[in-house]
Amino acid sequence: MPRPTELPAWQQLHSHRQTLDAWRADAALAADPSRRERLTVEAGPLTADCAHHRISGDTLQLLAELADQAGVQTRFARMLRGDPVNLTEGRSALHTALRSDTPLVVGGTDLRANIAAGQQAEREFAAAVRSGDWRGASGASIRHVINLGIGGSDLGPALALDALAASADGPIARCVSDLDPRALAAALGDCEPASTLFIVCSKTFGTLETLANAQRARNWLLDGGIPPAQVQRHFVAVTANPQRAREWGVAGEQCFAFGDWVGGRYSLWSAVGLVLQIACGSAVVAALHRGAHAIDTHFADTPIERNLPALMGLLGIWYRNFWGAQAHAVLPYAWPLRRLPDYLQQLEMESLGKRTDLDGHPVTWDTGGVLFGAAGSHAQHAFLQLLHQGTALIPADIIVFDDTAALEPALNANAHAQARVLCTGGQVAAAPAPHGDLPGNQPSTVIRAERLDAESLGALLACYEHKVFTQACVWHINAFDQWGVELGKQVAQSILRGEPG
Ligand code: F6P
Repeated sequence: MPRPTELPAWQQLHSHRQTLDAWRADAALAADPSRRERLTVEAGPLTADCAHHRISGDTLQLLAELADQAGVQTRFARMLRGDPVNLTEGRSALHTALRSDTPLVVGGTDLRANIAAGQQAEREFAAAVRSGDWRGASGASIRHVINLGIGGSDLGPALALDALAASADGPIARCVSDLDPRALAAALGDCEPASTLFIVCSKTFGTLETLANAQRARNWLLDGGIPPAQVQRHFVAVTANPQRAREWGVAGEQCFAFGDWVGGRYSLWSAVGLVLQIACGSAVVAALHRGAHAIDTHFADTPIERNLPALMGLLGIWYRNFWGAQAHAVLPYAWPLRRLPDYLQQLEMESLGKRTDLDGHPVTWDTGGVLFGAAGSHAQHAFLQLLHQGTALIPADIIVFDDTAALEPALNANAHAQARVLCTGGQVAAAPAPHGDLPGNQPSTVIRAERLDAESLGALLACYEHKVFTQACVWHINAFDQWGVELGKQVAQSILRGEPG
């Protein structure tokens, strides 16, 4: 496998950038839409307008060549069939199998059958809690479900619960992640122990924050009068380590397991989605999976020039490696998606924050940058000034929904205005020159769907997963490990034990 600096398209892109740089220096040309590559890409329920980028048809072709040379789609096919693509942990990365019906046998094990059995158990349990058939220790049905998890065991469920709140018709569901005890206390404010169910959600079942909250939840139940012998009725576990969950005190039949081949930040599709299933029902979870699966198929089969996740990844590489961009902004113009930047921050920064390549060599090119963002309305009144007039180059994804425009037309008008002004620049008449000059030529992609629903959410998340996959392929790094966060955990434990530094 050639390393990225040796890929022919990579080298051509370097000189191509100089040509575009000169072209782009002419503000009139940069602002002329007829000179830009007017690219619109469709993927499942999503349409992306990529017309506001610093690319020409040649750039696109070179980027597509780069993806081909890095073997993006070939490697994705290997991932789908269960090859151990997570090399440092010797594991496959099969989150895609959780949203597919395709038969899959890996190492002689019928994974499809295992997945189907697990999903059936989750559906049955969620239905029992929703119908009131599952009861707490005193016989009361469940009114509140609290997911205790952090990182990938929290961000996906928390995002999906907010995003799909309009579909919630089951018990009230909340997510608590923070180690600060006030977070759990706030979530339990209006809960009764007799009618509250906790989901202890942790892939490893060894995470400090989650276990601390689980212990506090147990104390709260006991203090609230639940007899010690029956307290386990109020806990289920979602984990890849059911043995630890049982040792902690969760009954075996109340452990919902998933394979270690599901990375934490890719785990919403696994039993980690249980809290969503309880809140919204199985049809919503099925639609979420359907949307994601449509993008898996799109990513696997569509030529790179029209392949949305691949293009998102390649545009990210274009700005990171050829224009020196350090950051990328995500701006959903939909309040229910306000947690999307948090979710994507883990997905992108934990996956791509790497300095060693797949062969164990130090990388000699930039890898992942900073992802940040906020719901669009807030962003406009907080940090968009820096994108409009600052000196940094920060490409943005602007995400809009037609059904949001029906609720409040000014939301999408604002979204499209940002894309246009970022691109074309302009002058603020009221400002003394040159303080009112906006240079323009700031890149953005407008991603649109008709509705914010489970299917479009699934599609959107899968697009970003495969964007990350594309970038990891080109950068020749492992997107599925996160060794960098381990040392800090160990040092915190040693500080807690009072060991000298
Ligand atoms: O510390 C980072 C991390 O390992 C993430 O990768 C993971 O999503 C999170 O912690 C939570 O881990 P677990 O699900 O094992 O509790």
